[in-house]
Amino acid sequence: MPMKKTEKLTCKNRDLKTAAAVLKNGGLVVFPTETVYGIGANALDARAVKAIFRAKGRPQDNPLIVHVDGMKMLSGIAFDVPETARKLFRAFSPGPLTVVLKKKPLVPDCVTAGLDTVAVRIPSHPAARSLIRACGFPLAAPSANRSGKPSPTTYPMALHEMDGRADAVIDGGNCGHGLESTVVSIVDDEVTILRPGSVTREMIEKVLKRKNVLMAPHRGVKGKTRSPGTKYAHYRPKAEVVLVDPERAERIASYLKKRKGMNAAVLYAGNMKNLPDGLKKVRFRSAAEYAKKLYSTFHELDRFGTGVIIAVKVPPEGIGAALMNRLLKASGGKSL
Ligand code: TXA
Ligand code: MG
Repeated sequence: MPMKKTEKLTCKNRDLKTAAAVLKNGGLVVFPTETVYGIGANALDARAVKAIFRAKGRPQDNPLIVHVDGMKMLSGIAFDVPETARKLFRAFSPGPLTVVLKKKPLVPDCVTAGLDTVAVRIPSHPAARSLIRACGFPLAAPSANRSGKPSPTTYPMALHEMDGRADAVIDGGNCGHGLESTVVSIVDDEVTILRPGSVTREMIEKVLKRKNVLMAPHRGVKGKTRSPGTKYAHYRPKAEVVLVDPERAERIASYLKKRKGMNAAVLYAGNMKNLPDGLKKVRFRSAAEYAKKLYSTFHELDRFGTGVIIAVKVPPEGIGAALMNRLLKASGGKSL
């Protein structure tokens, strides 16, 4: 891919206008959201959207999320928004929630990878909102990482991934949530979480006053997935990632002995006893902080040439479900 000259922009109004002009001309702009940085293009311009796939090296059969500034723009791209979806948008939008809806024909097929549905989200980050408003059209935007890598959650990470690949990158500082949005599908009023995120299953069940919200398995039955993106390797730093149960921390010492000389780090939330010496210890106060800083920690550890990252598991409840989902993928399921 030929290198582009990437403009570095701030969140100031004047810069957001420049970014909107780039997008109107069919360009690519990396922008901050409250979850992770996205690489955006005009969602209604097939040519611009195809450039996203090239910049990321993303497989064509993995559809994109379309970002809108509110329900009015949303109804321009999706048919008959069911009442259940409306309830979720009322409760959690603007914010880290994506809902899969029936698409209108004006949404190009390359956005949805040929599906008849479109994933829609109303971000809450002020710069993302102002940018969409300045454009006046929806933005198709996957996470701004090269395919397979962890999503950028800081400006330096976003630049590291997309400098030379996007036309502009907006500096919005650090992302508040640090993991990608919760993706929800609603079919015949059955609600399934295709990708867990900061809007947790517990929060969704409370709002809908029901206890039967499903969590999609990582791989669908017979290799078919409802969310096409979930079948690819994801969120992987250069370092090898392995998981360990907090109750089995004593296994870390023998693992390190086997891999002598390996530059290792351990990530954990709360307090851990039995952690051996001779490895870098990264402690988070809570599962929420672990989730928020996971990708930036991966990035930092890669910079230090870490060979193996041992990630201590958390209970898969609340935000823990999203964190464990990403850790399972980053590790490819490997555990001690
Ligand atoms: O927080 C986020 O959602 C970030 C920011 C930038 O908004 N975006 C993001 O996009 O994570 P991406 O492309 O990295 O992940 C989109 C996920 C993929 O797993 C994809 O397969 C799924 O959403 N998806 C998109 N359209 C879909 C559809 N029509 N049906 C089912 N799944 C869909
Ligand atoms: Mg992604």
